[in-house]
Amino acid sequence: MNEFPGIEAHEPSSEMISRIASRLVAEATGGALPQAVAATSPVTPARAFDGALPPATALPTLPPALPEARAGAFPVASRLPAGTTAGPAADPYVGLKSFVSRIRGLDASPGDRSAGFHGHDPSLEAAAAAIRAAARGIDAGPARYGAFDVEGVRRDFPILHQKINGKPLAWFDNAATTQKPRQVIEAISRYYATDNSNIHRGAHTLAARSTDAYEGARATVQRFLGGASPEEIIFVRGTTEGINLVANACGARFSAGDEIVLSEVEHHANIVPWQMLAERTGGVIRVAPIDDRGEVILEAYAALLGPRTKFVALSHASNSLGTILPVEAMTGMAKAHGARVLVDGAQSVSHFPVDVRRIGCDFYVFSGHKIFGPTGIGAVWASADAQGSMQPWQGGGNMIRDVTFAKTVYADPPAKFEAGTPNIADAIGLAAALDYVTAVGRERIAAQEHLLLEHATARLGAIPGVRLVGTARAKVGVLSFVIPGRDVIEIGRALDREGMAVRAGHHCAQPSLRHFGLEATVRPSLAFYNTIEEIDRLAVAVERIARGRGV
Ligand SMILES: Cc1ncc(COP(=O)(O)O)c(C=O)c1O
Repeated sequence: MNEFPGIEAHEPSSEMISRIASRLVAEATGGALPQAVAATSPVTPARAFDGALPPATALPTLPPALPEARAGAFPVASRLPAGTTAGPAADPYVGLKSFVSRIRGLDASPGDRSAGFHGHDPSLEAAAAAIRAAARGIDAGPARYGAFDVEGVRRDFPILHQKINGKPLAWFDNAATTQKPRQVIEAISRYYATDNSNIHRGAHTLAARSTDAYEGARATVQRFLGGASPEEIIFVRGTTEGINLVANACGARFSAGDEIVLSEVEHHANIVPWQMLAERTGGVIRVAPIDDRGEVILEAYAALLGPRTKFVALSHASNSLGTILPVEAMTGMAKAHGARVLVDGAQSVSHFPVDVRRIGCDFYVFSGHKIFGPTGIGAVWASADAQGSMQPWQGGGNMIRDVTFAKTVYADPPAKFEAGTPNIADAIGLAAALDYVTAVGRERIAAQEHLLLEHATARLGAIPGVRLVGTARAKVGVLSFVIPGRDVIEIGRALDREGMAVRAGHHCAQPSLRHFGLEATVRPSLAFYNTIEEIDRLAVAVERIARGRGV
């Protein structure tokens, strides 16, 4: 059910945005949560998640804000007493206010050429979800994380409970890969212990069990992405293989002069396969630029689209800058020119709800290991219509209906695009990961991560000498930064000595960093199991490094 009729429209009016913002603020600050709002994020007594989550409307008391937060001044590390946290976790209104102003930003500040598009997808949805969650946080009284039981979820991740270099591990490398809950580890191990078999071609019981589990996993992925049928899901090794599959499978329809539009924030996995295709076919790559916040300049993107645009391939969220692209609007614009659209969901599916049919794209691709699942598995959602335009990419067993030396008749999709024995165990592990995320609650995850992001942005941004790179208004929890004059690898090593894992380098997105005149950044990246305390440790360590005192 759509509780805000009209949000799907490609250009929401400023009055509509204002109305929604006012309504959400009223809900958050005084009015009771309407039934429809509470129902969007059920408190699930989860199969995969045992944490005690307070009911959404319990305890209608506002936790007292810390004095600093009340005064509107964010405390920097040096002013914090040991063990104290502040900011969004202590005062849900901080996050709430920032969301509302972000939504109101849609009223278009003069000179902001792309403002009209921001926020309605997915930022408006994320903002709406986060405001609702902030409202729940207020309801939940003194609970630091509102309704989110971070200690409960952390108990599910065995790897988090260890020391590195004598310090508790803080895993801030979630954009590179996420950690796995025991529900995923157990699903894979159970499969090998009890059900292992090749699939589809056996008459025995284990073959039937394995086939059911593998095909069940396909249906889980389809439901998770909002696809229409399980046949739309093609299992691949990950995002990289998925994009290569699409570029190759659609390549036969390209001819010289056809244009492929990318954005400047793309990961190399969403650049190189298209360059290879363009080289083969005489195609042309065109790139939509970003501004200095790291947001795609939509007028420039619009100007690139035209009758020659054959394909548009966009990240849903940037792994180097954190920017969430307004893919629903951008897809609509590309579709107006008859282009096919692929969305790279590697950095989005683990952070906020995704609905491929709402986006309106043709292909949506993601990796299991970035959403708390195993490595070596990922999926391509391809609409039935788009599948009709794809030739098989790899040939072999499983993808055929009949073979003679004269001719092969291919199987129907998705088998047509899954040659050879697939990664059965990890598809099952991926389904367990998606079930886990669903049980924790995707809107709750989005809201929780946003609180962490706001806190981390404020803490790191307040450190003299630290330059944050990527300050888009709609972001996932990626905090690229540099300290001019300090080597990023050295910073990464210094943080490792403190038990903190961050990535340092070009993050396989060199063009996006070169926009800012950089070759590399330090990149802490967040997941819902990170804590305010971990972020405070990070800020203290970074501040010491920035002061030249090392850690
Ligand atoms: C936005 C984006 N796209 C694609 C990829 C490639 O993912 P994988 O290495 O799992 O294939 C990544 C990995 O970091 C990414 O962040």
